Amino acid sequence: MNASDSIASGQLPQNSGVLGGGRMGAGIAHALLISGSTVVVVERDEASAQAAYERVSESVDKSIARAVVSESKDQLMQRFSVSMDYAQFATAQLVIEAVPEIWELKVSSLQAVEKVLDPDAVLASNTSSLSVSGLAKELTRPGKFLGLHFFNPVPASTLIEVVIGEQTDENLVEASRGWVQALGKTAVVVNDAPGFASSRLGVAIALEAMRMVEEGVASAEDIDNAMVLGYKHPTGPLKTTDIVGLDVRLGIAEYLHETLGDRFAPPQILKDMVAQGELGRKSGQGFYSW
Ligand SMILES: NC(=O)c1ccc[n+]([C@@H]2O[C@H](COP(=O)([O-])OP(=O)(O)OC[C@H]3O[C@@H](n4cnc5c(N)ncnc54)[C@H](O)[C@@H]3O)[C@@H](O)[C@H]2O)c1
Repeated sequence: MNASDSIASGQLPQNSGVLGGGRMGAGIAHALLISGSTVVVVERDEASAQAAYERVSESVDKSIARAVVSESKDQLMQRFSVSMDYAQFATAQLVIEAVPEIWELKVSSLQAVEKVLDPDAVLASNTSSLSVSGLAKELTRPGKFLGLHFFNPVPASTLIEVVIGEQTDENLVEASRGWVQALGKTAVVVNDAPGFASSRLGVAIALEAMRMVEEGVASAEDIDNAMVLGYKHPTGPLKTTDIVGLDVRLGIAEYLHETLGDRFAPPQILKDMVAQGELGRKSGQGFYSW
């Protein structure tokens, strides 16, 4: 079995690449590395490449301290490199893009990666909201493209949302379940749609919780406790909104409102709080005082 056959069969790629080694990219690179892949992270400049290297190195230290890896730090880091040259992706069977969530940047970066990839290699995006089918339309091999939506922080999260575009090859659905399992995580397979499954449901609950505060049904604490104690959510929808940022949630709600209709219309209380600078944890005040 050659390398491209083995990735198509769901085995973890022997060689993988990550474009953009920020918060998510470094987490993804670390996950691939400790699962046995040889990983290169490509960054836009020297300083960002160095920062990416340090982020992965620190995560490796933590994995060693928690005894979740059997290899030594030297063994692991021998299989890891950073670069500013996209040509380093030429031997990768899987490249995951994790540059900032800006449409033009995603398109130009994915096109640049595609140019150097092996014809059988798979390209994935870690986008949290952009249309996977839309991005695929900008590529020359849309069948070999899909979304792999990792969650933050990657080492602590066991979920990866696999987002299947309109043109994604059918065999990548099963194959991607295999890669996700090899990374020690669980796949949720979703056909490309606004908000995928996770953001759509998470935001739906949060918007309803906000309307309940607005209508005086209950306090933020009591609404959150209803979900934490009654439904075993680790954090209530309003505290989660404070942690994510009210401005971020408003942006997602506006996008879902545009694409999915009025049921995602942002409540007035959310718009007012954002206008007043009450953005949640990062500003010190949201549905809670931080
Ligand atoms: N942060 C989260 O909670 C989260 C969760 C899930 C998905 N995402 C998605 O992951 C992606 C990355 O988010 P992040 O939070 O890691 O962002 P980040 O800003 O921490 O990292 C982005 C990295 O990309 C690099 N970069 C920018 N332009 C580049 C280029 N042309 N070539 C190579 N590298 C380039 C930057 O130097 C930076 O290191 C986004 O699409 C985001 O929506 C984020």
